Amino acid sequence: MQLVFATNNLHKIEEITAIIGKQINILSLKDIHCFEEIPETKETIIENALEKAEYVNSKYGFNCFADDTGLEIEALNNRPGVYSARYAGENRSFEDNMNKVLIEMKAIEKREACFKTAIALIINGEKHFFEGIINGTILKEKRGTNGFGYDPIFMPNGYNKSFAELSAKVKNEISHRALATNQLIDFLKKLEK
Ligand code: IMP
Repeated sequence: MQLVFATNNLHKIEEITAIIGKQINILSLKDIHCFEEIPETKETIIENALEKAEYVNSKYGFNCFADDTGLEIEALNNRPGVYSARYAGENRSFEDNMNKVLIEMKAIEKREACFKTAIALIINGEKHFFEGIINGTILKEKRGTNGFGYDPIFMPNGYNKSFAELSAKVKNEISHRALATNQLIDFLKKLEK
């Protein structure tokens, strides 16, 4: 079976290929010669994931899945949410985005937050959805250098380290993306049987 992962992030492709094994051939956008920017215009992560998967499926004809992730902070009415990648503005750095959150949260004691990943899969004309959530808190300052994005300011519940202080191995076992991806993989493995 061939399945396109509608992402330009080769790290994500490698990660899922390593878990899924050889039964399913995961193709990147580059593999199918899709070089244009895929629209991501919706107000929720699940709709964005579906928009990306539908775009590739309808334009290129492949079975396809796409993901989208957001950090939801309770005290900020679930912002940055779907705007996580560009919270401080278009083309701003992870540092800028984290600094904006830290400033907004400066006087706030209630620091609960969660990361959510949504995956939309379109296979043989049918749509399927998967979601992974990890709860935690927003730290008052950045801690650690591993990972990316908001990792230095997010501490998952049950750990006294930020995501950026945890090893990649531990983060990849517990993260929002791992939880959503594992559901997708279970589903695909059942299809293969
Ligand atoms: P994407 O949908 O996977 O591209 O994620 C959107 C944005 O959410 C990224 O640009 C990051 O700012 C943030 N993000 C996603 N996953 C993580 C993570 O595992 N740790 C920290 N930040 C993340």
